[in-house]
Amino acid sequence: MEKSLVLIKPDAVKKNLIGKIISKYEDNNLKVVALRMEKITEEFASRHYKEHIGKDFYAPLLKFITSGPLCALVLEGENAIERIREINGSTDPEKAKEGTIRKSFSTNKTENCVHASDSLESAEREIKLWFGNNIK
Ligand code: CMP
Repeated sequence: MEKSLVLIKPDAVKKNLIGKIISKYEDNNLKVVALRMEKITEEFASRHYKEHIGKDFYAPLLKFITSGPLCALVLEGENAIERIREINGSTDPEKAKEGTIRKSFSTNKTENCVHASDSLESAEREIKLWFGNNIK
């Protein structure tokens, strides 16, 4: 069993998509084991996205991710990290496959509805950042 950190980003929250997005994961046998909803600060966002500091899309990304409430979830399941990334689809909605969350709902590469951990190491780091040591 693997765990991954997922964010349902402010664009998806604004568009009333929380339920639809969580259903996609649950329908794929992924279990929600933790969940919180809040508007995060720039300081917290910079810790979450620290590997992107300095990239050309970093400033718009930070502005967007702090623009309104988001949902952070920990999902658990077999091969969860890879499966969630498949369910989410490519970062660029124009390249995302039909039926993926980003193909169905996202606007562009920044307003792309969801984030998910991209490796076991980032899942561990991100889960600790968002939920402390409560989730094992
Ligand atoms: P996410 O999975 O949250 O991780 C980094 C985010 O940066 C990514 O999703 C996108 O929302 C955002 N982003 C914006 N532009 C780009 C880009 N050109 N390449 C990668 N990520 C981008």
